[in-house]
Amino acid sequence: MIFDIHPLSDALGAEVIGLDLSEPLDDESFARVHRAHLEHHVLVFRDQTLSPQAQIGFSKRFGPLDQHPADDATLDGFPEILMVSTKRENGKYIGLPDAGPMWHSDLAYKKKTALGTMLYAVEVPTEGGDTGFANMHAAYDTLPPALKAAVEGKRGVFLAGRNNAKRSFKRRLNQEQKSKTPPVTHPIIRTHPETGRKSVFANPQHTIAIDGMDEAASDRILSDLFAHCARPEFVYRHKWRVGDLTFWDNRSVLHIADQSRLDDPGYIRHLHRTTIEGDAPF
Ligand code: OGA
Ligand code: MN
Repeated sequence: MIFDIHPLSDALGAEVIGLDLSEPLDDESFARVHRAHLEHHVLVFRDQTLSPQAQIGFSKRFGPLDQHPADDATLDGFPEILMVSTKRENGKYIGLPDAGPMWHSDLAYKKKTALGTMLYAVEVPTEGGDTGFANMHAAYDTLPPALKAAVEGKRGVFLAGRNNAKRSFKRRLNQEQKSKTPPVTHPIIRTHPETGRKSVFANPQHTIAIDGMDEAASDRILSDLFAHCARPEFVYRHKWRVGDLTFWDNRSVLHIADQSRLDDPGYIRHLHRTTIEGDAPF
């Protein structure tokens, strides 16, 4: 198939134009998409019209799919599709309205973290609701020496944000969902399993401590680390269009949703998410 790939910013990201994902991709096109994903870390496939089946089928080319702990926020009949949505029925949110209030990497609170996430824009607002992506290879490459020495070889303690009493979310996990997501540890500096590149793998939504360090020192180092990771030169901010399918590499980037209009009653933002399982970070 013929399609174009254009970089979106100096930090990361590329848009894919002219590729129709409603039909299965031939192997050569798939290989090109896969290479571009490793190179740019975030791909935006423009102008898609995707059924749940087509999104699931394309996602599965990259690996097995996760089923989110918020199992009451999925699309009926499609447990692999999590609804990231501000819509309500009978006063209750049908999906997760606040999937990413802080910088994070998906499923970083599980032993096997996410390889990648695909988010398909069904309805988007004209203002607000952008998603920010930050390049964690660039963050690693530019770590100030003292900060690098403080985190290299250390493990972070990770807990699901919705499972953490100190974090505020519109929808929280119930007891059963919580019991399935106990804290885990991961190396703070990880190596990408496909490219061999190192990246910073800690984030303010999930990383609650540096394992084995006293709390004051751990809090101070993590706050310096999070500030470094969010530096504007590492960030691309995506302004959504209906029909965008965004695919990010959770081993290479952090992401965050702008939620400034979440309490505005006319604010409708509705996306379908699939999450591809990855490995335990090393
Ligand atoms: C997610 C997420 C960001 C957004 O779905 O994992 O963080 O912009 N979403 O909705
Ligand atoms: Mn997320």
